[in-house]
Amino acid sequence: MSDTLDVDGLVEQARAAVAAATTTEEIREVIASVAGKKSPIAQAGRSLGGLEPDARKELGQKLHAARAVIEQLVEERRSQISAEELARDMEAGRIDLTEFIEGSIPAPATRGHLHLVTQTRDALEDVFVGMGFEVAEGPEIETDWFNFGALNIPPAHPARGMWDTFYLDLGAPESTLLRTHTSPVQIHLMEEAVSSGGLPIHAVMPGRCYRRDTPDARHLPVFHQIEGLVVDKGITFADLAGTIEVFTSAYFGPDIHSRLRPAYFPFTEPSAEFEVTCTICHGEGCRTCSQTGWIELGGCGMVDPAVFGAVGIDPDQWTGFAFGFGIDRCAQMRHQIADMRALIENDIRFLRQF
Ligand code: DAH
Repeated sequence: MSDTLDVDGLVEQARAAVAAATTTEEIREVIASVAGKKSPIAQAGRSLGGLEPDARKELGQKLHAARAVIEQLVEERRSQISAEELARDMEAGRIDLTEFIEGSIPAPATRGHLHLVTQTRDALEDVFVGMGFEVAEGPEIETDWFNFGALNIPPAHPARGMWDTFYLDLGAPESTLLRTHTSPVQIHLMEEAVSSGGLPIHAVMPGRCYRRDTPDARHLPVFHQIEGLVVDKGITFADLAGTIEVFTSAYFGPDIHSRLRPAYFPFTEPSAEFEVTCTICHGEGCRTCSQTGWIELGGCGMVDPAVFGAVGIDPDQWTGFAFGFGIDRCAQMRHQIADMRALIENDIRFLRQF
């Protein structure tokens, strides 16, 4: 047997078998077949006893060396396989903690932006600043004097019915209130101008207003207006009409125009309502504009001499015009928002459109 035993061949067979194994299971079987009790090498070792001393020694050494080589091959392959299996398990068990379900929450990169009403106020301010106006602000809590009295609306005047008022439980009854319009800021500006020699005035005054109105598609109890006031020498109604027209086309677009219709406001004389071309039908006539082609936006007029009297401006020397309209209404018209209540519901699906 020793003459026919090809020890090198056994080593090569073992090398091929070891290399072919790819799993822990396979390498275990290979170990049994190339180095186990029934392996050719083990069987050759058991037959050594029947050999001549020299031949036994020679084959014994060869088998010993071959077994060492095979054990090393096995050991290398085994550690290689277990490293591969560990890497595969880790990859399979990996958890992606950055994962999110499309549409369920905003993607991490989504950024917020200014509310549509704020964007609208900024855009309106830009138009008026471009026309030479300054921007001013006044308080939201006013006394009866600023909101009504100085604006030529004395107590119990029937025109007070135009503004359903939230009164505050502060001072004498009905003496302090949440402003119902931005017109009281006119009074603040004119009083300041008189005391600091600040005439003429060319200013717009945006801000929040409050009225005891039930919310509906076109009204909110908390809303926004922008007021305009010019006090200068030689100001006429034509300046007012021209200012409104330039503003209208600049803000809504070149095909949208304005028209003034007679109206009544206690603080202006003469007074007018200003209307702009319907932005839905562009003047053709539709349901929104009740087939007229026009939409009412606000009020305006020449500053009443009684108002100049209240703040101490000489109406023989100075004349002026004023206007006021809704910022929320502008946003509604420009973006064709059917129901104004969407502006305060904070539904992100609505807000992110703008
Ligand atoms: N303050 C009025 C309102 O809220 C709007 C208004 C009308 C403002 C005429 C004006 C004006 O400055 O001249 O109903």
